[in-house]
Amino acid sequence: MAQSPVPGRSRGQVIFDWLDERAGLTTIWKTVFARAVPETNWFYTLGSASTILAVVQVVTGMLLTIYYVPSPDHAYESIQFIMNEVTFGWLIRGMHHWGATLMVIVVFLHMLKCFFVGAYKWPRELTWLTGALLLLVVMLLGFSGYLLPWNQKAYWATAVGTSIIGAVPGIGPLLMEIARGGSEIGAVTLARFYGLHIWWMPIALLGLIGVHLYLIIRIGITHPPARNE
Ligand code: HEM
Repeated sequence: MAQSPVPGRSRGQVIFDWLDERAGLTTIWKTVFARAVPETNWFYTLGSASTILAVVQVVTGMLLTIYYVPSPDHAYESIQFIMNEVTFGWLIRGMHHWGATLMVIVVFLHMLKCFFVGAYKWPRELTWLTGALLLLVVMLLGFSGYLLPWNQKAYWATAVGTSIIGAVPGIGPLLMEIARGGSEIGAVTLARFYGLHIWWMPIALLGLIGVHLYLIIRIGITHPPARNE
């Protein structure tokens, strides 16, 4: 076997030291993971659970785009193909489908925990604000993704959802037309929702999670109030 270039140090250690000196890996590790955190409880794991669910949704969603075809002629068949023909397609789609529902529930519970411990107060107002935007993005991801299977349920749910937008006083009809890409639900609506679902909203999601986590590292988290506080 080839000798390590530095006596007494393994090849792996030499490579790590080389990278660490240039990229500051130890500093990143200390800042992000080896932080001192206050004593908390299980409710404080809901934020990390939301982060993991976001990663699962992004990865399974990326895999689904390999076979999904966003056109009225092929969308439904492409989903059937994923479910019945693609190896583990049913699993990837199942994870994405149920992961979406789970994410809405977990993010909502995380928000409730933050509310009950008063984490929206100074100095965490921005953490709360980015969180509120994250909840909006998660809901828009769910709404835009619901149309993509292009089955009866998807079509009519979007018909109802977009007509609710149309009920906004004054600008409602205009907003509904923007959402549908015309007066009816059709190919343009599907293209619009697909674009929203795979580009606009995921970019917003990852960007906002980045800011949210930066603020958590910078400011720190609360700890559950004790009886005598
Ligand atoms: C995709 C959605 C979200 C992700 C990935 C996420 C992630 C996280 C993580 C990892 C933490 C630190 C651990 C914890 O306290 O649980 C946290 C804390 C926090 N989050 Fe979120 N969050 C999301 C949505 C929200 C929402 C909807 C709100 C409120 C509207 C919110 C407000 C906060 C606040 C105020 C904290 C600080 C908690 C404390 O100091 O006790 N987050 N978030």
